[in-house]
Amino acid sequence: MKNTVETFKKAKETKEKLSMLTAYDYSMAKLVDESEINGILVGDSLGMVCLGYENTLSVTMEDMIHHGKAVARGAKNSLVVVDMPFMSYQTSVYDAVVNAGRLVKEAGAEAIKLEGGQDMCDRIKAIVKAQIPVMGHIGLTPQSVNAFGGFKVQGKSEARAKELIEDAKKIEAAGAFALVLECVPAKLAEIISNNITIPTIGIGAGAGCDGQILVYQDMLGIFSDFKPKFVKSYAKVGDTMKAAFKEYIEDIKAGAFPAEEHTFKIDESVIEKLY
Ligand code: KIV
Repeated sequence: MKNTVETFKKAKETKEKLSMLTAYDYSMAKLVDESEINGILVGDSLGMVCLGYENTLSVTMEDMIHHGKAVARGAKNSLVVVDMPFMSYQTSVYDAVVNAGRLVKEAGAEAIKLEGGQDMCDRIKAIVKAQIPVMGHIGLTPQSVNAFGGFKVQGKSEARAKELIEDAKKIEAAGAFALVLECVPAKLAEIISNNITIPTIGIGAGAGCDGQILVYQDMLGIFSDFKPKFVKSYAKVGDTMKAAFKEYIEDIKAGAFPAEEHTFKIDESVIEKLY
């Protein structure tokens, strides 16, 4: 069954947990979609896990459109959410609406996600007014890495915890249909989840959230540059891939690949005429 923003709203009412994963290309979107996940995020994390940048700041609108298009072609039943990259919405309300519109028209996004708290509510309102569903994102917002002085857990002090609760309420009031909580203490995430009527999607925010999201390369053991504490390892796909690549190389060296069944035939009469 097709997941929409209505599915997300209903899940909060019925207390059904929501599941999301990232995807950045057609084949992976198909695999994730076929596993009956609720939503796929084309995250700007692609800057790190696909493009090899140190953070998400260099990701462009063109990157998001390129990957978003591929995912939208592969995802039939999941809700496709595409991230707004750094500086595509911070600059003005106008830029936010224009760029959110591009993600819908050019990438096939069914919803967009943007980072930030109360300061971003005018952008959220304007995008929602343009009939584009918005997913908020607070806590450790990676586009603020320089302002935060690194990738750090957010909301540990009383002041910051209160600020995040207020951010969540204002984002809900601005019209967002869901809210990502990244790297906040589990008890704070639970308080936030209990104080708003839109679903919270946690990443490093504990089990009290209304749903969870992970970057697929992290949970499959494909991305090895670093492993955040909150990631559960569900498979060692990276090791399996490396073993397969090694076997392939050995087969080539030994002349075991390609074998008869991997080759095409031609009539001997044709071959004779080639000498
Ligand atoms: O870019 C991303 O993948 C994200 C998730 C980590 C929530 O924003």
